[in-house]
Amino acid sequence: MRPAQESAPRELPAEGLADRTAELAVIRQRVVEGLDAESALRQHRLGKSTARERIARLLDEGSFNELEMLRRHRATDFGMDAKRPYTDGVVTGWGTVEGRRVFVYAHDFGIFGGSLGEAHAAKIHKVMDLAESAGAPLIGLNDGAGARIQEGVMALAGYGGIFRRNVQASGVIPQISVMLGPCAGGAAYSPALTDFVLMVRGTASMYVTGPDVIKAVTGEEIDFEGLGGAEVHARSGQATSVHDDEDDAFEQLRWLLSFLPQNNREFPPEEPCDDPVDRSCDGLLDIVPSSPNQPYDVRRVIEEIVDHGEFLELQEAWAGNVVIGLARIGGQVVGLVANQPLVLAGVLDIDASQKAARFIRFCDSFNIPLVSLVDVPGFLPGVDQEHNAIIRNGAKLLYAYCEATVPRIQVLMRKAYGGAYIVMDSRSIGTDLSLAWPSNEVAVMGAEAATNVIHRRTILAAEDQQETRRQLVEEYQRTLMHPYYGAERGLVDDVIDPRETRSAIHEGLRMLRSKRVDLPKRKHGNSPL
Ligand code: HXC
Repeated sequence: MRPAQESAPRELPAEGLADRTAELAVIRQRVVEGLDAESALRQHRLGKSTARERIARLLDEGSFNELEMLRRHRATDFGMDAKRPYTDGVVTGWGTVEGRRVFVYAHDFGIFGGSLGEAHAAKIHKVMDLAESAGAPLIGLNDGAGARIQEGVMALAGYGGIFRRNVQASGVIPQISVMLGPCAGGAAYSPALTDFVLMVRGTASMYVTGPDVIKAVTGEEIDFEGLGGAEVHARSGQATSVHDDEDDAFEQLRWLLSFLPQNNREFPPEEPCDDPVDRSCDGLLDIVPSSPNQPYDVRRVIEEIVDHGEFLELQEAWAGNVVIGLARIGGQVVGLVANQPLVLAGVLDIDASQKAARFIRFCDSFNIPLVSLVDVPGFLPGVDQEHNAIIRNGAKLLYAYCEATVPRIQVLMRKAYGGAYIVMDSRSIGTDLSLAWPSNEVAVMGAEAATNVIHRRTILAAEDQQETRRQLVEEYQRTLMHPYYGAERGLVDDVIDPRETRSAIHEGLRMLRSKRVDLPKRKHGNSPL
């Protein structure tokens, strides 16, 4: 028996307020418990939770306020009028996480597979509108089959309304998607428009067309996990992070929220800091090798610099040659962008440029200062990169830095060659403070390559070509391969002892606290998207 789904005409309302109030309690109980008993069984069998269980686990206890619990669809085709469950397959409302307001929607897979019809969409539209006007993060707990087939164009239009709101709210409130089941079509596209996408291994998948359609069209055979599972999207970059279970995903979500402001008019939450800001980062001298080609893990540098070594890395499994994430320095939230010499020697390529660019734009939207740790040999050479538009994609990163108005600090750690130096938040594109370690070398290219270009004739004409080349390489190194060349010319603000990196960044952040930039009036720029 599924009372909440019955379509029979309502009985006459009870008489008197007391009776009507009792009747309301029964209806509410039916919605919450009656329906859940059915869907819970299936969800639990699959290792998943119901929409209400998820909301209860994510939000502070007792903080959830539900919206439109009694809404039902009005579709009549395909026998839909015989099946009109309350909620229409999505639970929406608001509550708090660690005392801070959030708005939530959660698909109920037990109702039409969590698919989206007109009423379902209207509920999500409403909670999105409220989140934007109240200025609080929107969290989507996704477990749905996409557009509800029986409702045709009304379902498609419902998604259009969600996409438009995702875009309108972008840069106004943080939007976070948690993928907890199979998410087809629109249920995957809306998350792609949000700022963060967390996925659960084994149960979540995202795809535009499912395995059956793919087989029919291309003949390829693949299952849901192989097509769009968490590991696939960790590597495609569509997932910000992947998790072993729902609780792990919610824990990460809470940590993520702790770094974010409620909206673009607020600053990210500061925390009291008991990690001394003037702490000497002695470990840095050992972590970063002096030879420019020797790899090391830049995450160790980050952990040495930030408060208590706590760093929330994002999109870890995609484009590992650049590391992005959130941390605090002196209690103040910062967004870190760091070249990673451990992967592809830390070069910038198409994926790394896209990854860093979107993160920079997120930080800029939400008043999060940027700290860039630079150790980059250049852009990745290769036919594949050129043919797949490294120019346009590298330009995305350039664009993102150039338009960012939040405080920006560049730390030149070791090498920074060519265009990659310019792009990694150099002074010429607007960084506020450029700090260099004594080990830093900035040049158009490395010494050997440069010497071969500019002294080719001299070397060819020399009696002892090897010795001549050696001398010319040395001359190049003496002239250019140190931070003092840039410091003398005002492109480096200070050459610092690496052990003072934390305190120098902190001082820079304090100095830039009141930074204000007035931009020329325009509708928007035209980023090479
Ligand atoms: C209506 C749907 C539905 C849909 C599933 N159901 N998908 N009802 N519209 N799109 C119903 C099923 O009939 C079933 O109802 C219940 O939900 C559970 O579905 P199952 O197939 O039994 O579950 P499961 O085996 O777990 O498979 C889940 C699934 C699969 C992978 C999501 O159902 C599926 O592939 N559905 C179609 C997905 C799809 O193509 N959506 C349209 C995307 S296009 P009963 O009554 O039997 O329990 C789109 C447009 C926007 O979204 C695109 C923008 C870019």
